[in-house]
Amino acid sequence: MRTHYCGELTESQLDATVTVCGWVHRRRDHGGVIFLDLRDRQGILQVVVDPDTPEAFETADRARNEWVMQISGRVRKRPSGTDNKDMPTGQIELLGKVVNVLNQADTPPFQLDEHAKVGEEVRLKHRYLDLRRPEMLDNLMLRSRVSTFVRNFLAKNGFVDTETPILTRATPEGARDYLVPSRVHKGEFFALPQSPQLFKQLLMVAGLDRYFQIAKCFRDEDLRADRQPEFTQIDLEMSFVSEDDVMQLTESMIRQLFEAELNVDLGAFPRMTYADAMARFGSDKPDLRIPYELIDIRDLMTDVEFKVFQAPANDPACRVTVLRIPNGAQLSRKDIDDYTKFVGLYGAKGLAWIKVNALADGIEGLQSPILKFIPDTIIKAVLDRVHAIDGDILFFGADQFKIVSDALGALRIKIGHDLGALTHPWAPLWVIDFPMFEDAGDGRVAALHHPFTAPTCSPEALRTNPLGHNSRAYDMVLNGTELGGGSIRIHDQAMQQAVFEVLNISPDEQREKFGFLLDALRYGAPPHGGLAFGLDRLVMLMLGASSIRDVIAFPKTQSATCLLTDAPGEVSQAQLKELHIRIRQVDTTEAR
Ligand code: AMO
Ligand code: AMP
Repeated sequence: MRTHYCGELTESQLDATVTVCGWVHRRRDHGGVIFLDLRDRQGILQVVVDPDTPEAFETADRARNEWVMQISGRVRKRPSGTDNKDMPTGQIELLGKVVNVLNQADTPPFQLDEHAKVGEEVRLKHRYLDLRRPEMLDNLMLRSRVSTFVRNFLAKNGFVDTETPILTRATPEGARDYLVPSRVHKGEFFALPQSPQLFKQLLMVAGLDRYFQIAKCFRDEDLRADRQPEFTQIDLEMSFVSEDDVMQLTESMIRQLFEAELNVDLGAFPRMTYADAMARFGSDKPDLRIPYELIDIRDLMTDVEFKVFQAPANDPACRVTVLRIPNGAQLSRKDIDDYTKFVGLYGAKGLAWIKVNALADGIEGLQSPILKFIPDTIIKAVLDRVHAIDGDILFFGADQFKIVSDALGALRIKIGHDLGALTHPWAPLWVIDFPMFEDAGDGRVAALHHPFTAPTCSPEALRTNPLGHNSRAYDMVLNGTELGGGSIRIHDQAMQQAVFEVLNISPDEQREKFGFLLDALRYGAPPHGGLAFGLDRLVMLMLGASSIRDVIAFPKTQSATCLLTDAPGEVSQAQLKELHIRIRQVDTTEAR
């Protein structure tokens, strides 16, 4: 039906007779001449139709926004002064001779260039219109190039693309499962995979050596700007490898991808231990574009009278920490109040501060609500410790370790953006040396990664002191987002059982849920390890998009629904009966 895409015509087709198809982006009537901006996947083309061709003119005159047209004509140079440098097709226009309407369109619920005004609900409901916007099509096309790049890279490196089941048993990755009832087996359910973790390990036991899959994963968890209930992983696994092998290969894949698509050299990724990341940035996915760090001052506050600091300083589960913000003394009272509210979201009970106006003037040169509670010598020691200079503001956090880390870690990022303090556009790193388990309260522990991650110690040592050992896990972080995570796995049955035991999974439950894995580990499982990237997050970061929904063709809303198809939806009584399911009548307020 066409000879060219609208968006690909340039001066090299001057005087050629071409046929294009596309949507009417805009129609303008310039006193006897009709201009149609015709849009397709590749871009927008200006078409001119004049009354010399009455039939074409009449059709062009009738056309409305979003009608689908086929137009043939001659490519000509735009008259001087009317060219448009911002458009790839801006030097030329198509003199339309034959104009066909392929389909009409109702007036769309929003003008494509006014998407920002209509709100996301309307956009998601009419996603096929929203996706017509050039930005959205560009996002999908980048996503496609990223998957193609990754497939080629991994295939070249000997990875075998293998599909794993969607109807399966639960794989614990820390979220709730989406369940699918079995019709054939009354009262039994499949779980949709939270990741292909166990299957990819079994493929290593099978001898596949290098596996990859662009895999759909399903997690019923609280949604945020960078999370979807259904998302895509670039999932890979390798046999006979160390941490370094996996990290080097995947780092080189990401570096080459950025080079190829964005012309960006990410450089060698620094490595940082989990302990360091938490201490210096209050996060296990630090955003290293922001040049501020947390500095602990617990030892200085053990004897001060100011209870807000003194109590946490004497409690090993707490931390007392300073965030120094250069040029922060310019912040107003209102700014500080807003930041105090902000840290409150993370559980902080306050946000003490000191403005450093003139160091040379000693205590007189400082401004703060807490000076009267703390001896001058201690204040001086704090200033020395954080290397304070004139113009700084120091923010203080004193509370449980997690609260202070979360609160000041988030404040660091917020102020970094507010003050425009980002030092460079891309900051990748590896976070390594994670603890194997974390304290989950009530004497229980939880795996920091998943329970198939290898610890750095023997099964006995792990049983004796679960919280005292690291795992062989690694996360790739980019600009404060966890892009991917992986580990060397347990390939020994005794070790796997020790981990299950520490997690309080009884031998019966181990058999019931993971018997197939434990069995496989007995039949010659090779040492192996791997990693999974979030494809959606990767594309989102590459585009600088603020929502993961902008890089997924048909995403779910924040409340895990699809506005386009109105899913999830009710099903018929007959279907429920067949599945042996009865819906319990609940009061709707309870169900929420
Ligand atoms: P993990 O749970 O860290 O590891 O997931 C790997 C990567 O997947 C992305 N991701 C998500 N993206 C969008 N929405 C979500 N809800 C979501 N959850 C995770 C993140 C994350 O880094 N089986 C292990 C990997 C392994 O050990 O090899 C796993 O799934 O970018
Ligand atoms: P207060 O004595 O409660 O008025 O607190 C004095 C100052 O300490 C105020 O600036 C509070 O915002 C701050 N503050 C209170 N609790 C904390 C805390 N847990 N960490 C840091 N600063 C705090």
